[in-house]
Amino acid sequence: MMKETYEQLSFIKLPVETFLLDSFSADGFCPDEARLELERKYAGFLEITDRFDRQNVSYQLSKKDALHSWLKYKEGFSANLVNNLLDEMGAKPGNWVMDPFMGSGTTALVCQMRGINSIGYDVIPLSAVSIKAKEAVLRYNVNEIKNLIMEIETLNVPEDYSGHTPYITITQDAYPEENEIFFQYIWEWREKSVYSEDAKNLLTLCIINSLERCSYTSKAGQYLGWDCRSKKVINANKVREKKGQKLLPQKYVRAVISDARVTVLEELYHVLTDIETIQSNIHDTTKAEIRFIPDSVLYGLPQLEENFLTGVITSPPYCNRYDYTRTYALELVYLGLGEQEVKDIRQRLLSCTVESHSKVNELRMYYESMGKRERFDYIYDIIRENTAFKEIMYALEKRKRNGDLNNNGVVRMVEGYFTELAFIYAELYRVCQNGAMVAFVNDNVRYGGEVIPVDFLSSSFAEQFGFKVKKIYCLRQQKGNSSQQMAKFGRVALRKSITIWVKEE
Ligand SMILES: C[S@@+](CC[C@H](N)C(=O)[O-])C[C@H]1O[C@@H](n2cnc3c(N)ncnc32)[C@H](O)[C@@H]1O
Repeated sequence: MMKETYEQLSFIKLPVETFLLDSFSADGFCPDEARLELERKYAGFLEITDRFDRQNVSYQLSKKDALHSWLKYKEGFSANLVNNLLDEMGAKPGNWVMDPFMGSGTTALVCQMRGINSIGYDVIPLSAVSIKAKEAVLRYNVNEIKNLIMEIETLNVPEDYSGHTPYITITQDAYPEENEIFFQYIWEWREKSVYSEDAKNLLTLCIINSLERCSYTSKAGQYLGWDCRSKKVINANKVREKKGQKLLPQKYVRAVISDARVTVLEELYHVLTDIETIQSNIHDTTKAEIRFIPDSVLYGLPQLEENFLTGVITSPPYCNRYDYTRTYALELVYLGLGEQEVKDIRQRLLSCTVESHSKVNELRMYYESMGKRERFDYIYDIIRENTAFKEIMYALEKRKRNGDLNNNGVVRMVEGYFTELAFIYAELYRVCQNGAMVAFVNDNVRYGGEVIPVDFLSSSFAEQFGFKVKKIYCLRQQKGNSSQQMAKFGRVALRKSITIWVKEE
């Protein structure tokens, strides 16, 4: 009965107006005419859809998918979404599709299964491990993986072994002692072992995927959450107690901290089952290339030749202060990154944290070094002249002066975020062939009572660089606001959208 009611409800057509706003600035504190103008301009392109929902624009569906579940990448989208969009763009074997922000590699892997070539970038080393491991799925020698599993089942850490996993300040004491020792031991053992590079990389992926469950941390919100049984929390509470301060809450991130060896083996069994299934079902060996560039797309894109892409399917980091280098600190450190290297990657990310510095000068010098200073000026002038962007930056400055922002770094983040994204839109237009379709998944955001319509603002930049807006899919479920914004400025539902643009010359 409940199910029927839900299904009936999901067919109810919600009017598009429910997804539009008549005010972008709480209490009319700042001008919002330019944002209202965007709303009028693009309302006709909005399609409230059941084709895409929260499950397939997030990692939820991938959890059950063979291959795509190999790396728990919460920020990923699903294979189902990529398949849908590839169908919509009519991509064929041999075509080239780009994901400028590859993450775990969903776009690339779905393309590979369909014989479509793909190219993309990411700055997080985790991406390289994930894509390399999945891309090899038809190549693994099943017997070799079985031997690897057998060896790990009986792997003995010598009693006098004193190695510990490396750490940086934000990951110190993340594991119970026996897990910390095992993770280091297996890393050294893996280095010395004679397994193929593919098998070793697969093992690395399985270890990486185990770290969180075997630790006192959890990936919650913008920072790592810490368990009250960890030394970090116990020691912090001792200090607080002495100072008469309120103690940190008795929070358990999980009931049981998993055993490292058992968890790594579980992961290996999981991938082995997928490998066997995929190898026995897919015999078509049509080779599609995956070209992964472990660098910032901002610097990679301007170097590519023109007019070769059939399409783009991607989801950039959202403009929401989410810091990948903190959430994935355990994994980055395990892969060998030190304190400074983690900080450097933070600055390579598209500006999505309040710590992000402006990249404009660096970008200008970069274009100059390629002899493309005029192109830089052309793109940057368009960005700075965008009326809605100017209005948003003015509003955020005003909110900052009024003390309405939780963190003043938000102003620099938003400015950097859209400036950098707009450079990417401009370069994508150049590398797309005529008729190419570009799909960006993103969420609208709100800071200090100011709504930023990420989907419409991005579409206006895209149009300025030559794209035609074809459609803006909008999920039925909109996003709420943080509790602080709700309390201070009331509630405004925010769209989660997939913008679809085409290059039509
Ligand atoms: C939302 S995730 C993409 C997830 C991907 N769609 C998937 O299914 O796994 C965004 C990715 O962009 C990457 N990223 C951030 N800044 C970047 C940059 N400047 N160049 C390339 N990648 C970047 C992040 O490391 C992150 O993996």
